[in-house]
Amino acid sequence: MFDFDHALITGGAGFIGSHLGDRLVDDCAVTVYDDLSTGSRENIPDDAAFIHADVRDDEPLRDAVRAADVVFHEAAQVSVQRSVDNPETSHAVNIDPLLTILEAARDTDTRVVFASSAAIYGHLRSLPIDESHPKTPTSPYGLEKLTADHYCRLYHERYGVDAVALRYFNAYGPRQQGGVYSGVIGIFRDQARAGNDLTVEGDGTQTRDFVHIDDIVEANLLAAATEEAAGEAFNIGTGDSITIRELAETIRDVTDSDAEIVHVDSRPGDIDHSKANISKARDVLGFEPTYDVAAGLDAYLG
Ligand code: UD1
Repeated sequence: MFDFDHALITGGAGFIGSHLGDRLVDDCAVTVYDDLSTGSRENIPDDAAFIHADVRDDEPLRDAVRAADVVFHEAAQVSVQRSVDNPETSHAVNIDPLLTILEAARDTDTRVVFASSAAIYGHLRSLPIDESHPKTPTSPYGLEKLTADHYCRLYHERYGVDAVALRYFNAYGPRQQGGVYSGVIGIFRDQARAGNDLTVEGDGTQTRDFVHIDDIVEANLLAAATEEAAGEAFNIGTGDSITIRELAETIRDVTDSDAEIVHVDSRPGDIDHSKANISKARDVLGFEPTYDVAAGLDAYLG
């Protein structure tokens, strides 16, 4: 299925990028581009080449894109909260490098698979969310991802760049970081294991569609290999959702923890509900998630 010779993975030392690298090293040459600001060197596959640089450095990034025949652009400022705290940095990391990649890809016919996000949709208007759902992001992060997502479509329409946007819902799995700016599953995992309170923000009725990393990786390979996907955007989730309160309870059970669940302030810019309609990814890419959240959390934390 994967007949590229050389893949570039930005953010290849991070959570999603490193799993992609592991999956690809046996199939093609892999170059990881990462500044190690949140990723780590141990995550980079032994057989991959490594460019230690920031995606905001346009020259090395441009050169790296030109040397590859497919780019998976996973490098990002991934935290909604951090984008609220520091919108200028978040903007610079999440938009300009994608534009550099698309400009370089115009010259070399490099295919681009971009990590977009469910955060582009903002508050739910209709459920489940399909790709034509209104897009009114509630955070700088969501707006940045929406802008970059539109750039992919525009560069396909205007310049014929083979760019695909994958709108990830909430990814989780091994190597996901903990700490205040990381995804809720990494935070609850660490809290449960340490026997600390699990901190549910708000009343915990907000919902998310949690998608296992193995399914995210598969979606990337399908997006790279599917010609009709160029210029298109696809929701990548499970098609189901749970509340954050239920998530906390499940993680507590699966880790056999006796930690308490407490409620703290909700966060600014948070969206209330999120659940993907994945029909388009199914029909065009042949994408089929293999884990629902119960099975995925059990495989990961059980
Ligand atoms: C996440 C991703 C983002 C991705 C998006 C897709 C991270 C850091 N963010 O954003 O990159 O594009 O999904 O939808 O991975 N919460 C708690 N307690 C905590 C931490 C979080 O209750 O200790 C709640 C939050 O208030 C929120 C929910 O959990 O309601 C999810 O938060 P988070 O994991 O940060 O994800 P998103 O904001 O959805």
